[in-house]
Parts: sequence; C-alpha cells; structure tokens
Amino acid sequence: MPNPKHRLGIKYLKPKTIMSLSSLYIITGSSKGIGEALVDLLLEEDDSEVIGISRSKVKKENPNYTHLEIDLGQIEELIDRVGDIFPKKEFRKIVLINNAGWIGEIDHFGHLKDQSIKNIFEINTIAPAILMNGFVKNYSNQVNAERVVVNISSGAAKKSIDGWSGYSASKAALDMMSKTAQLEAELDKNGIRFFAVAPGVVDTEMQTEIRSASEDSFSALTKFKSLKENNQLSSPNHAAEKLLFLINNTDQFSEVLQDVREF
Ligand SMILES: NC(=O)c1ccc[n+]([C@@H]2O[C@H](COP(=O)([O-])OP(=O)(O)OC[C@H]3O[C@@H](n4cnc5c(N)ncnc54)[C@H](OP(=O)(O)O)[C@@H]3O)[C@@H](O)[C@H]2O)c1
Repeated sequence: MPNPKHRLGIKYLKPKTIMSLSSLYIITGSSKGIGEALVDLLLEEDDSEVIGISRSKVKKENPNYTHLEIDLGQIEELIDRVGDIFPKKEFRKIVLINNAGWIGEIDHFGHLKDQSIKNIFEINTIAPAILMNGFVKNYSNQVNAERVVVNISSGAAKKSIDGWSGYSASKAALDMMSKTAQLEAELDKNGIRFFAVAPGVVDTEMQTEIRSASEDSFSALTKFKSLKENNQLSSPNHAAEKLLFLINNTDQFSEVLQDVREF
C-alpha cells in the first residue's frame, strides 16, 4: 500500500519546530462530491485539522474534523459567523478551499427566477470572496506557515454555455478575484498563494443536476449525458488527489489559473 503522503507529493524537509505544528484545512462544500473526497483524504493524515462547511450536517468519527453548518447563500448569516471560522493559533500550513458551488437554475434569460440569479452569485462568488477576505485578515501575519487559497473554478469560466449564464459568470468572477488576490499578496509581500482550479468533469450530484435539465434550456444536454454513459467523468477522489498535489507542490505552479486536466 503506497504511503499517501508520497502519492499526494507532500514534502518532508521542514524545520523540526514547524513540523510539530498541525496543518489546517478549511473546506466549503464538504458534505459530498469533491469536498467530501478532499476531507476524507486529508483525514488520513494525523496532523491535519479540517474544518468543513456545508448546509447539511456531517458527522465524522475523527477528532480532527469540525463541521460548521452554514448556508453560503445566506450572506448576512455568513458575515455574522465569519469571525468564528478561522482558528487563531499557529499552524505549519493553512489552506482555504472554496469548493462549495451550485450549477444554478439551468435556463435561458427570460425564464430564470430573479432569486436564483442572485443566489448563484452569492454561493459561487460572494461567499468565497468573504472567506478569502477573512483568510487574509486572519493569517497574513503567520509568515512561518505556508498559506494557500484554492478556489474551485470551472472550464465554464472561459466559455459561454447556454443555460449556464450565472454559473459561467460567477466562476469567471472567481477566477478574476483569485488573480487580483495573488497580485495583492505580491504587493503586500504576505506570502499567500492563490489559485483558481478547474477540477475537470467529475461524477458528482452537480453532474446529475446538469443531466436533469431540459434540452430547450441547455443545448449541450446530449453531450453531458453521453459523457456519463461513456464513463468519461472522473471520480471525486481523482479530482481531490490532483487538488492536493497542487496544494502540496505550489512551487511547481506559477500561474493562478489551473486545470487538473493539465497536470
Ligand atoms: N462536478 C463537476 O463536474 C464540476 C466541474 C467543474 C467545476 N466543479 C466545481 O467543483 C465544486 C464542487 O462541486 P461538486 O461537483 O463536488 O458538487 P456537489 O457534489 O453538488 O457538492 C456541492 C457541495 O457544495 C455545498 N453547497 C452547495 N450549496 C451550498 C450552500 N448554499 N451553502 C453551503 N454549502 C453549499 C454542498 O453541500 P450542502 O448541499 O450540504 O450544502 C456540497 O457539499 C463546485 O464549486 C463546482 O462548481 C464541479
């Protein structure tokens, strides 16, 4: 059985004092899909503390896991609670993964509910921005810790797909926020690395929701159905392993925008 630390490309050469500290991972959307796979991989390591966030309750028989039930589409609630999300102690490594996301109401303009237009930007763009702000506020001075923010983006951020206006635009905004945050980190010399990463097409509930759309509202429906029928979706575990490889080897990745299909 290969050592999972080797598989994920984790580096060992750290000073002893730093090595004795634990690593902190804050992961949104930890109840299922890619987020759940990330949590399960990270909890294989004894020195990882994981804080997961989602609307559903999540119970793990592991003292290193803490779950916060927060609806990231309720921005006022998030603003009230954001101060409690970031533990104030020293860590060896601190990672925020803005993974929670919603495909949105799949339909053309003229048929969308105004509330879902608002909600998709809250979940996919505004909530990650508030968490990025909290992360920088709380950890910009922890210069001895390696600090990484990964925003889970999508290939859709770079192309128009009918029925997905909110999804594409909210992920494009997330890409641009990540690039700006990286620019600011360089100007402020705070050492934080920011990435926006497309995870590939992954076999999760989000894809089930995509396949349940109607062809009138989404002309690529047949293509997405055939990806599933032909076993062309990657697994949540595969996507999570790729994301952890990037997080553990940031010096190999100079660009902010990344796609797991390219490494
Ligand atoms: N699957 C793909 O093919 C694919 C492709 C490109 C990008 N992505 C991106 O990858 C990320 C993960 O997607 P996935 O495929 O793993 O999706 P998923 O299986 O549908 O899981 C989504 C996660 O986000 C959480 N979430 C959704 N709305 C939330 C809210 N209002 N408040 C708090 N948590 C919320 C869900 O938890 P609760 O329901 O418990 O709240 C769940 O844990 C998303 O950002 C998605 O856009 C996925």
